[in-house]
Amino acid sequence: MSLPPISARPDLLDEAEHWSIDELRAIQLTRLQWTVQHAYDNVPHYRKALDDKGFHPSEVTALEDVRHLPFTTKADLRANYPFGMFAVPRAQVSRIHASSGTTGKPTVVGYTAGDIRTWSAIVARSLRAAGARPGDAVHVAYGYGLFTGGLGAHYGAEALGCTVIPMSGGQTEKQVQLITDFRPRVIMVTPSYFLSILDEMERVGIDPRESSLEIGVFGAEPWTEAMRQEIQQRAGMHAVDIFGLSEVMGPGVAQECVETKDGLHIWEDHFYPEVVNPLTDEPVEDGQVGELVFTSLTKQAMPVLRYRTRDLTRLLPGTARPGFRRMEKVTGRTDDMMIVRGVNVFPTQVEEIVLSVPGLSPYFQCVLTRPGRLDELTVNVEAAPDAGDLDRDAVAREVQHHIKSRIGTSARVHVVDPGGIERSVGKARRIVDERPR
Ligand code: DLL
Repeated sequence: MSLPPISARPDLLDEAEHWSIDELRAIQLTRLQWTVQHAYDNVPHYRKALDDKGFHPSEVTALEDVRHLPFTTKADLRANYPFGMFAVPRAQVSRIHASSGTTGKPTVVGYTAGDIRTWSAIVARSLRAAGARPGDAVHVAYGYGLFTGGLGAHYGAEALGCTVIPMSGGQTEKQVQLITDFRPRVIMVTPSYFLSILDEMERVGIDPRESSLEIGVFGAEPWTEAMRQEIQQRAGMHAVDIFGLSEVMGPGVAQECVETKDGLHIWEDHFYPEVVNPLTDEPVEDGQVGELVFTSLTKQAMPVLRYRTRDLTRLLPGTARPGFRRMEKVTGRTDDMMIVRGVNVFPTQVEEIVLSVPGLSPYFQCVLTRPGRLDELTVNVEAAPDAGDLDRDAVAREVQHHIKSRIGTSARVHVVDPGGIERSVGKARRIVDERPR
């Protein structure tokens, strides 16, 4: 199937996208030195953490010195709730975002006006890498509000010179109506919610391949190569990955380029990446899988040193933007890893299997229970609406067999009616934990 052609526009690249690796490393070092000093001078948490390590900002003389810096975790942000991690007076903070957090207090992040400009510029750069061009209409279906998705995408699209349609998440019928009437070329949305939008289009008799959409910029949750193929075939559009997290900035920390679709280029002029072994905390070589860690290089309101993302990936050399390293598509988070009879299982592995079996829809949930001493996994997956008189037991056995042979663990599988799995208008809930606390 052919996808819409996208013209390369090297003339639109910004200065940093032309830097050589040596130029980039030199600028990163200057920015790292500034960041560590700024954090030390203005954030009591960092002053104490650096003093406790016996490491002074003046000792940052090479990029490798990042290894001497203390890690930062979500718990540190919670302990300094709400504004204790800010490095500027509250009055200089022009915007707050927060993530809900499943338990207790939200984690709060802040941006100066300068931070918002930086963020908008890197989201504009991300959109350009995704194939968006000035003048495009961009439909934003990431949630607006305390979540960084909606406003982050919005400001970036405006900065690129696009016409923004700030739809936010939800109201699926209206999403489809506006896509039909306003004819956006680009949509920014979680991949799982985009599936619901596609279902709604089909329900009202619109062939998604006939829609104006040519590019989907999908992120905020893990999704697989199999899902990319599914969306590209079903909608006749390019599906590219955007990554980010609120503690580090929001969407646009890293972006996949439409011409290569081979992982996400990290905008290293603003975020210095490392991958560490989550058990030993030691950095691993590029190419090795581990937990992604970021040190911000230009953030004013809330610099972060070695923030532990809990996302699992590996660093690879740049391709479409040779100066910047890539991160492989995120396989999952350390806290999404299910351990079933001693085997590590991620929802993305289940997604790949579900998408490879005919007759199933991409909606599934992993339910964890503990009837005795061991955890058990049940995968509930929907039959496709057009599957007809599917032999559900046979399909369930096929999924079960693939889980056993490809992942290495036993699971129960139930094929449920179309619409039987909960829908989300933002991040999908892939794991339902019913184990006793
Ligand atoms: O999800 C920011 C964002 C909005 C990114 C829109 C992309 C698009 P948080 O709510 O703080 O921020 O959640 C961050 O979401 O640590 C990952 O676990 C996950 N995540 C984000 N993007 C991706 C992605 C936003 N492309 C957390 N692939 C991160 C896999 C992702 N996981």
